[in-house]
Amino acid sequence: MHMTMTRRILRRSMAAVLAVVATAGTAAESIPHLRPQGTATQLIVGGKPLLIRGGELSNSAGEPAYLQRYWPHLKSLNLNTLVVPVYWNLIEPEEGRFDFSTVDGLLRDARRNGMHLVLLWFGSWKNSMSCYAPDWVKRDTQRFARAIDPAGRPMEILSPYSAANVAADARAYARLMRHLRDVDGRQQTVVLMQVENEIGMLDDARDHSADADRLYAGPVPAALMQSLVQRREQLMPWLRQLWTAAGGKTQGSWAEVFGTGTAGAEVFMAWHFAVYTQQVAAAGKAEYPLPMYTNAALIRPGAQPGQYPSAGPLPHLADIWRAGAPALDFLAPDIYFPNFIEWTQRYVDSGNPLFIPEALRSPDAAVNALYAYGQHDAIGFSPFGIESIGEPAAGLLAGANALIAQLEPLILRHQGQGRMAGLLQQSRDNKKPLQRDLNGYRLKVTFERDQPPPLADGVIVPQGKPLPADLPSGGIVIATGPDEFVIGGIGVIVEFESMQTGEIAGLLNVAEGRYDDQGRWQHVRWLSGDQTHQGRHVRLEPGRFGLQRVTLYRYR
Ligand code: DGJ
Repeated sequence: MHMTMTRRILRRSMAAVLAVVATAGTAAESIPHLRPQGTATQLIVGGKPLLIRGGELSNSAGEPAYLQRYWPHLKSLNLNTLVVPVYWNLIEPEEGRFDFSTVDGLLRDARRNGMHLVLLWFGSWKNSMSCYAPDWVKRDTQRFARAIDPAGRPMEILSPYSAANVAADARAYARLMRHLRDVDGRQQTVVLMQVENEIGMLDDARDHSADADRLYAGPVPAALMQSLVQRREQLMPWLRQLWTAAGGKTQGSWAEVFGTGTAGAEVFMAWHFAVYTQQVAAAGKAEYPLPMYTNAALIRPGAQPGQYPSAGPLPHLADIWRAGAPALDFLAPDIYFPNFIEWTQRYVDSGNPLFIPEALRSPDAAVNALYAYGQHDAIGFSPFGIESIGEPAAGLLAGANALIAQLEPLILRHQGQGRMAGLLQQSRDNKKPLQRDLNGYRLKVTFERDQPPPLADGVIVPQGKPLPADLPSGGIVIATGPDEFVIGGIGVIVEFESMQTGEIAGLLNVAEGRYDDQGRWQHVRWLSGDQTHQGRHVRLEPGRFGLQRVTLYRYR
């Protein structure tokens, strides 16, 4: 953790207090806000924590008329939240004239379908570019300055150094938030806001406009310097190393403090993106302080700043973003790469609550979701392009979401207390058992991605319809009592060891079942014999999501 616990808690309590104060007199209950529970951060909606079982629409699917036909499909995926863009060019077609009909249509349809919304502000930047800026902004390149490439050519990227740019964006975003406060402050359909989308500079580490060059040659702002000096010991290792390697100076130009290379240029750019985003987010929060975050395009292996969107809210730049944009409650990764474990860990290590607004809509999304909730107390998980998800990913995601919905009360109760874990294979060829220590037991977990033969390792496996190869495999485990675990998932085998020297752990009993709407356990059957490998392990079959309650005993 690179932010002291006290600061984190203080920051979150401040957010909670602000949220309550802001609604006094306008809504019966506090508006959606973040609240700590142990080491976790929960999203509180209508006074209760909410786990977001989300899906993000593809970019051009956010108009109600188009979306209409997809609602039944979206509901069949057992989502509780839709992650939807709001387009600056549609809500402010002429400067100062606002049209919120698309937003109102979305609110109406989400309510009809019993879903919450996370809104994405497609403002100045959408994947580095500025394609959602209104026509009147795009056309007026004199007033609304563009970023300039190293060859001196303007790009369709609004410059973060322009006061006119940020003022126009912040005004529109603030109007959106005011509108949401007026039309949704009571119903609280919208629970979270994303400010901009995948900010980052292409194809170079930084902008080369005259303003950028001037600022780059000038001093590192005192606000950033102070924040780095104060938090020197907690800084992300990459940044601390960069700073130390350049001499650890506490004042000077950007090149003097962070070196002359692209890494320093990226830090410079990140600070200015953060400060701009701060102004937009703060203007929005002044109207209606919903929790807010911004999201990042991650780094392709081997790519350099500019080859990947440079200076976005990436974990190595988290300290810069936090210093520049304190109005953001967290930074969020869009995880399309297979090393899901690594990226989630990096975001949590940077002192961040985990929300994944975009994930690859592959069959593995189903188990990645379970992992995020189990291992990192995630606020939510949301595959991208959700309206067009097809089989087998759709069925698997619906299965995982149904499981999460059943487990929601249990997960929320156990968040932030070190009593849950996520189960996921490091990589397809890593056969080494995953180890998780919970409540005095060591769990050794292996993963089954294929249909096993009819007789596997002494276990008779019933053969139904043949399953496709390379099934997703993973789960969530919750220590619910001194010798009791609840395990949900697909294709996992769990062996238990006592962590007391000389003590042996045995399976007392294993039940398969489900939780009903009231959170009561509904027993389906006892599992033993071949189904537990004669008492040696717990097994959740490949190909279908299962839920088991395991009671253990210890002997010497
Ligand atoms: C990441 C972006 O944030 C999304 O809006 C979308 O463009 C996807 N990439 C496409 O894969």
